[in-house]
Amino acid sequence: MLTKKRIEQEIDFVYNKIVDNLEAFETKVPKAVSTNYIYPAVENADWTDGFWIGMLHLAQYYQPDPRIQAVITKQLAVFKKRLDEEIVLNHHDIGFLYSLSAIADYRENKTASSRDMALRAADVLMRRYNETAKVLQAWGDLSDKEQQGRMIIDCNMNLPLLYFASNETGNLIYRTAAENHVKLAQKYLIREDYSTFHTFYMDIETGEPRYGATAQGFSDDSCWSRGQAWGIYGFPISYTHTGDVSLLESASHLADYYLSHLPADKVAYWDLIFTEGSTEERDTSASAITVCGLLELAKHLPLTDERKKRYEEAAMEIMENLFNYTTKDYPESNGLLVQGVYSKPGGTGINECTTWGDYFYFEALIRLYKSWATYW
Ligand code: GLY
Repeated sequence: MLTKKRIEQEIDFVYNKIVDNLEAFETKVPKAVSTNYIYPAVENADWTDGFWIGMLHLAQYYQPDPRIQAVITKQLAVFKKRLDEEIVLNHHDIGFLYSLSAIADYRENKTASSRDMALRAADVLMRRYNETAKVLQAWGDLSDKEQQGRMIIDCNMNLPLLYFASNETGNLIYRTAAENHVKLAQKYLIREDYSTFHTFYMDIETGEPRYGATAQGFSDDSCWSRGQAWGIYGFPISYTHTGDVSLLESASHLADYYLSHLPADKVAYWDLIFTEGSTEERDTSASAITVCGLLELAKHLPLTDERKKRYEEAAMEIMENLFNYTTKDYPESNGLLVQGVYSKPGGTGINECTTWGDYFYFEALIRLYKSWATYW
């Protein structure tokens, strides 16, 4: 049974680890994934570098400490420099980066410079929106024919930056792009059985759909666990910004697919094609993202809807099992959640701590502990 006291104990473990890491990651950030459960400190230049400052914001929300705030301030200066100099921003993950840095700071502290930073970041992200295909190109140079018109399910989490920009400026171009993108993601990334493609190509000459494919999943027709998790969380987020109930329904179908493809301890293998007894690795980061998604989804369902309680209970059950996948047995580790997988086909970050797994683990704990106004 997941009690408030148990959640509090786990938050304290996370909080203390963050405080221990403040000095190492003052202006640098943890590398995307650990090596043997240790993150090296690296310069801020990857898509994952918002997760550390996102954790700092959550820690500050849980229990304010001037030492944490001081590092947030230093990190924000690095994010501004990255934007000013456009350091490795030629991808769609600008939303991940600037939601957890600039928007989080604006929401928590109402800092005008953070609002400005988020709006400028939204303009950079908008360059990737193709007016004919009506999607944001995920990866690669905009002139790269191989990548043009390619959207990926992860992008759901980048859209809040665009909703923010429209809400703040009154200019609807950002919102229109986000809404068009999410509707096409809903239409083409979700398969008939409610599993998902990781990526899907639109024709940028005609706007017609082309085909789905994987990048980090087992195969083009399998279901990459973390992709499904980005859908379970990302579609309800777009619902909160648009009021489009069909997005909640899609997330619910994706959640049902995910929950029915879990092994006995409810912690997914890295691809949902693998089931109980498989010798493949888990991806604990997919589980942490899914818990946040289930809780967000449940929040918007009426009390009379049987799914509300079911998703809340599923979230808590996964969470309780994730407690067995932390670095508590590895006191030298500076990470939180063990057994994440970055890319099995790419051979990177297999059975390691992942910065996003750690962030969403903490977000899930905070969500379970008290009400929290989302940064997304
Ligand atoms: N968004 C990239 C990943 O989930 O690996």
